[in-house]
Amino acid sequence: MSYAADSGVCLDRILASTDLSALTKKDAATFTRRLKAHFPRLFEKYTFVYGHQYDCYFHLQKLVELLRDGLKSRKPALKALDSQRLKTPLWYSDEEQVGMACYVDLMGPTLNDLHEKIPYFKALGVTYVHLMPLYDAPKGDSDGGYAVSDYRKVNPSLGTVKDLEKLTAALQKEGINVVLDFVFNHTSDEHAWAKAALSGDKQYQDYYYLFDDRSIPDQYEHTLREIFPQVRRGSFTFNEAMEKWVWTTFNSFQWDLNYSNPEVFNAITSEMLFLANLGCAALRLDALAFIWKEMGTNCENQEKAHVLIQAFNCCLQIVAPAVVFKSEAIVHPDEVLKYIDKDECQLSYNPLLMALLWNSLATRKTRLLTNSMKKSFAISDDCTWVNYVRCHDDIGWTFDDAVASELGINSFDHRYFLNQFYTGRFEGSFANGVPFAENPSNGDCRVCGSLASLCGLEGAIEANDPQAIDEAVKRMLLLYGITFSIGGIPLLYSSDEIAKLNDYSYRLDETKSHDDRWVNRIAVNSGDTALALGTTTPESEAQTASLQVFEGLKQMIAIRKQHAIFGQSKTHILDTDNQHCFAFLRENSEGQKLLVICNFSEHPQSLHRSLLATLKQSASKDLLTDETVEMESSPLELAPYQQMWLQPV
Ligand code: GLC
Ligand code: GLC
Repeated sequence: MSYAADSGVCLDRILASTDLSALTKKDAATFTRRLKAHFPRLFEKYTFVYGHQYDCYFHLQKLVELLRDGLKSRKPALKALDSQRLKTPLWYSDEEQVGMACYVDLMGPTLNDLHEKIPYFKALGVTYVHLMPLYDAPKGDSDGGYAVSDYRKVNPSLGTVKDLEKLTAALQKEGINVVLDFVFNHTSDEHAWAKAALSGDKQYQDYYYLFDDRSIPDQYEHTLREIFPQVRRGSFTFNEAMEKWVWTTFNSFQWDLNYSNPEVFNAITSEMLFLANLGCAALRLDALAFIWKEMGTNCENQEKAHVLIQAFNCCLQIVAPAVVFKSEAIVHPDEVLKYIDKDECQLSYNPLLMALLWNSLATRKTRLLTNSMKKSFAISDDCTWVNYVRCHDDIGWTFDDAVASELGINSFDHRYFLNQFYTGRFEGSFANGVPFAENPSNGDCRVCGSLASLCGLEGAIEANDPQAIDEAVKRMLLLYGITFSIGGIPLLYSSDEIAKLNDYSYRLDETKSHDDRWVNRIAVNSGDTALALGTTTPESEAQTASLQVFEGLKQMIAIRKQHAIFGQSKTHILDTDNQHCFAFLRENSEGQKLLVICNFSEHPQSLHRSLLATLKQSASKDLLTDETVEMESSPLELAPYQQMWLQPV
């Protein structure tokens, strides 16, 4: 049964009984105007999920009060930013945009120390910094901060909320936005809600999925994917204190929130608004695929997960419209696309491009990359990809089996090959990676490792092989070059930019040794930044390679920023007549064009020049080398791992 009512009537009644006297006149007017614009959608979403519950309207009224309070606490400078962003809503599609994700402790080690890193960000051209989760979290293992104990408190080892606000303001002054995590699928078992649940408080026990025995968990588990099988089998953890089974998709200390309870939606909205009001430009929606559970399904990407995210989006439009959502859905490509919408997540990680760049590097072949991108790269013009090569997590081979099968590729075998290749178990592999989350039941496995080690630098330095070092550097520049030139915001993962090798020290730390993702969570110390900024000179082969990578990335970023074609423009994926080459064309509404051609092999490759016809000019210039390329009958030659950014002249 649904208590269907008209959203207009509902809003009138809610407003009639909502006290707006604490708001300034201007804010009250803004609030009412935005509610009129967005409440109908919010109403539709909220009642879709909660309409069958007798207290739905009570919670909806409470939600409106929360939104009011959120607007009241928003600082004047941020309200000004809201107006500005509403006028330039597609700022994130700009060629200026370049992101970097970094851990405060690995770069700081505190928030205050990060002020000194601003020149480093600026030297590279970074315009947004994603500060990895910095909230209060359990001591010891906290899943790298993704087990949040208090969204309103900064982890004391990193600083305070005031420090964060100070840093955000300092970065903004330099044209750098801050992106924060919104970890809303779960809290840590030390969050106040979890503690209340642990003490037996029924109201808070309903914030989570708790079960008295295994009967329901067993039914769910028939169809659930295991995310961290190396930590614990299954998706539930028995809690001795409560004598209950707790739904824990990730680590056992990360308790999944129960979104079938509207009180949870409201409570987490309040936390979200707190984060938005700290001044961030975007919130990264962590593990968003998992927030809705439906018996008999894999409990990922459910329809109601989308509806809830759309409802959160409405709340943001009402209180903090300058803030956008970034989707972190590391799932099947068709499912990744479903989160991308102006009314859901305006930004999304591009895990398919990421995985297939690595695939092409291993196989030296581009068919799977080309066909997959032809199918899945196009998204709405008012949204944008966040293209990345490495991040703090593992690499999962989330390509579409159907696309692979059309090419005669057996997905299971191919994933096995990729895991073997990147963990260095495959004869002749250049990579030094570490297997992650091997599942003994079905053979699933993912890969960890730093950009540099996976690209072969670690092995090349060990072997003292100058040619192998050179190839490793070229691989790194090739992969990042594609993220700088294809449609979307490129996102650097800090430590990649100076080609740091795997850090194996986590194996000696008992809070980290079971989680091999720590191999690619690497400190960037003052020695590294001094080398990058030219205050010191390289003293080893490794340092020379680091500097080459830093300079190479810096140059490509600078070129990207000089040409509007890298901003708001379409990406057309092209076929090439050489199986080792990947190509795409950028084209904007002003008729500007850019052709990118890449060679994924360590051997020179030649291509038919007919590809250049897409530029509709007889000559073009490679923006990376300034060389002119003519339309003539001889084939076009690409050096090992070379990429060309061709602009018509
Ligand atoms: C996201 C994070 C990952 C974390 C998980 C659970 O996938 O990127 O590091 O383990 O969510 O929060
Ligand atoms: C899985 C999940 C993803 C998470 C990752 C962490 O791939 O789908 O959300 O970030 O595991 O390892």
